[in-house]
Amino acid sequence: MIAKQIRNSKNPSDHLVFPLDVPNSEMAVALADELKGRVGFFKVGLELFVAHGPALIDVLREKDPSARFFLDLKLHDIPATVGRAIAAARDLKVDLVTVHAQGGVEMMKAAVEAAAGATVLAVTLLTSLDPASLDELTPDYQSRSLYAARLAQRALVAGCGGLVASPLEVTELRARFGREPLLVTPGIRPTWSSVASDDQKRVGTVESALSAGSDLLVVGRPIRDAECRSEAADKILEEIAKTLNL
Ligand code: C5P
Repeated sequence: MIAKQIRNSKNPSDHLVFPLDVPNSEMAVALADELKGRVGFFKVGLELFVAHGPALIDVLREKDPSARFFLDLKLHDIPATVGRAIAAARDLKVDLVTVHAQGGVEMMKAAVEAAAGATVLAVTLLTSLDPASLDELTPDYQSRSLYAARLAQRALVAGCGGLVASPLEVTELRARFGREPLLVTPGIRPTWSSVASDDQKRVGTVESALSAGSDLLVVGRPIRDAECRSEAADKILEEIAKTLNL
């Protein structure tokens, strides 16, 4: 359902996720305030959730009742535990939640069953796993992309509504799985951004990711570390509008 809403939206901000990658709730609230109305979803990840939990989402929602949330906990445990964790998150009324596809089909099914209104996104392979570390874990697979595609296929069989994929994987995932899955893409680096000591290796521009078929872009540091955050967000929204002809 959310995939349709995002794809049919004429509002470029519906294609933009801003990760609240900051260590404390005051900073998160200040950032959300600054970018209110410019981003479609705020992403709350492990760091912030472990430290401040559901109370933070309540505070953010109180300040901006129209804010939507992406709970990026990348869950990976036995099916019963993941199902119960997702059920416990229902009260938070988030729109998107992540699990690791490596947890297996039964785990992902448990997540989807428990998610109620939220869309479960699967993370296939962490981009931090380089070929050598992947080879240590799965020496029988010929390639990273084959293994990632296998994980993605199992995620969709389990009922996950979408996949998290770097800009470099989007074309292949669309070719394999068609229009249906929601593709969410971190690793966006606009040509004008200069993120200091960048650890993202599998990157692309707003235009390249959307043209390849991504639905939703996760853009963190190019906005967070910009001299003027609202201006940086507006530039990204312009690029989204231009690429998608909105
Ligand atoms: O744009 P920036 O690199 O700052 O965005 C970082 C965000 O993207 C983090 O919240 C991180 O969890 C998320 N992410 C990522 N790489 C992935 C998957 C998610 O950086 N492969």
